[in-house]
Amino acid sequence: MQVDLRILRYDPERDEKQHWESYAVDCDPKMDRVLDLLHRVKYDQDGSLTFRRSCAHGVCGSDAMLINGRNRLACKVRVEQLGKRRITVAPLPGLPVVKDLVVDMDGFFESYRGVMPYLVTDTPEPARERRQSQDDRLRYDDTTKCILCAACTSSCPSFWAAPAYVGPAAIVNAHRFIFDSRDDGADERLDILAQKDGVWRCRTIFNCSDACPRGIQITQAILEVSAAIVERRA
Ligand code: SF4
Ligand code: F3S
Ligand code: FES
Repeated sequence: MQVDLRILRYDPERDEKQHWESYAVDCDPKMDRVLDLLHRVKYDQDGSLTFRRSCAHGVCGSDAMLINGRNRLACKVRVEQLGKRRITVAPLPGLPVVKDLVVDMDGFFESYRGVMPYLVTDTPEPARERRQSQDDRLRYDDTTKCILCAACTSSCPSFWAAPAYVGPAAIVNAHRFIFDSRDDGADERLDILAQKDGVWRCRTIFNCSDACPRGIQITQAILEVSAAIVERRA
């Protein structure tokens, strides 16, 4: 089968603005993923096409993009799943475009680092490991699955309206440590997320949960962090 692959292109050294370009690409819809189509364009038709990818198996999070109007990982979407012969591919919305499908992730990672996404402990290091029950581990299991692809944050209308909003990905990664029984940094993280560009910017729109390639219940995690802030005040 041949698909009409439409890609939103932009080369800052050549173009004044973004524009669509179309490529006819042969594919096996059952086997080929959107990432395979992009490779075919790059290797056979236009070597200047620029996009990020690494693992090609849904692990590294580097190839999130807007595919047929929805944020997804190009390596996780087979042509058959899209059910159309015309496929549109654009960079993640709401983030500055560097070139073609590559967006500037600096702000995204700055927000991530800002919530202290690492274990903080006040107690002396134990001789062996810091132990945890299975139930305590399950408390934050869902939010350990994040691969930092930015599909959630870049699909959030609250983030589009206020780019200073830390965004769902940062809150997911704060959640992962706030509810870890071994961690002592929850208060500091909750202080950060209680600020004006923290959790209160969320309007429970759910785009983030719909976009997450890992199926993380993101809105639920945001509500749990908001509730923890409120409980602390009570
Ligand atoms: Fe990607 Fe999901 Fe992590 Fe958001 S929460 S960055 S969508 S893996
Ligand atoms: Fe945005 Fe998700 Fe909240 S889409 S408004 S962060 S529920
Ligand atoms: Fe690594 Fe798609 S290339 S997640």
